[in-house]
Amino acid sequence: MLKVVAIDGPSGAGKSTVARALATRLGWSYIDTGAMYRSVGLKADRLGVALDDDQALAGLCADTRIDLVPDPSGGVQVLLDGEDVSAAIREHRVSDLASRVSARRPVRDAMGRYQRQLGERRPAVLEGRDVGTVVFPDAAVKIFLTATAEERARRRTAELNRRGQPAAAAAVLADICARDRQDSTREHAPLRRADDAVAVDTTGLDIDGVVQRLIEIVENVVGRAKNG
Ligand code: DC
Repeated sequence: MLKVVAIDGPSGAGKSTVARALATRLGWSYIDTGAMYRSVGLKADRLGVALDDDQALAGLCADTRIDLVPDPSGGVQVLLDGEDVSAAIREHRVSDLASRVSARRPVRDAMGRYQRQLGERRPAVLEGRDVGTVVFPDAAVKIFLTATAEERARRRTAELNRRGQPAAAAAVLADICARDRQDSTREHAPLRRADDAVAVDTTGLDIDGVVQRLIEIVENVVGRAKNG
């Protein structure tokens, strides 16, 4: 059995918090695949590469190293060609760059291959948009996390405020809706729930409760594989 938990869903559904907590509890690696697309978007922007130039993006990906280094708080430090971009990739404008490059075929192929290698190397919890549908159709457990757009906008606004990047809730909601549309209607690997994913709506839910439920699901599957 491939020891991979795939957690997919739209931004703001609580994926990072849940995936991180689950990985810590299981003692598995935590892999934030969105951080990879954010890093590629940031690098393309810095180099002035057009975000729809597939040939240039393929070259850029081949020439890029992204490392996710665990930090003591259960999070990860994101290194782009050795530079710590953990804060830079969380800037509001990078979300749009990431969404745009993530729609391009060569970027998806390169990042998907890299994610696959990481997950095959050691047990891992991966969060993203297509982990359960495209990258790990054979994941031991697949979760699809959702929440209403309003709830996700509230969470994102609070997060941006905490980071000292104040944003108006209405603008954040509009951005979230636009990005949802972009991510779920794109041609390559659109955001959708895998047929065998467990759907969890986190609107109004306490995240600890969600994590506990997922741990039970994973332990059940892993325990069954061990016994069978
Ligand atoms: O999860 P996030 O907000 O950090 O993701 C940033 C962007 O990358 C988002 O627009 C969706 C895209 N993404 C993707 O297409 N596939 C993934 N596996 C992860 C993220």
